[in-house]
Amino acid sequence: MGEHVIATQDELSNGDRKLVEVEGREIAVFHVNGEYHAYTNWCAHQAGPVCEGKLTGTSDADFDRDSLTVELDWCKEGEVLNCPWHGWEYDVTDGTCLSKEKVQLPSHSIKVENGEVILTL
Ligand code: FES
Repeated sequence: MGEHVIATQDELSNGDRKLVEVEGREIAVFHVNGEYHAYTNWCAHQAGPVCEGKLTGTSDADFDRDSLTVELDWCKEGEVLNCPWHGWEYDVTDGTCLSKEKVQLPSHSIKVENGEVILTL
């Protein structure tokens, strides 16, 4: 286990990402809402390159049983990573899969020191 400088703060504006290879693994660091998050570029569905997907939002559905209507609300704009292969969605702020329960992106520890974004692997 070691620390790797994978970017500088100046490289990653809010909403940016950087894909790097560290110790033979593809890992992406995302800068979202002032925080940094790092995940292995591996989708739990069929191992697609999830970290290369679009950052977008998602729809939250509310079903009313009495009126049998569905109300959709767009939410989490810029916080949802959409896998480019089949569209599974992940919350990029914590790695939670929004398409299947109990699934998480493999995450990695990340910190910022002296303007450097440092991954521990
Ligand atoms: S591999 Fe990501 S949704 Fe299928």
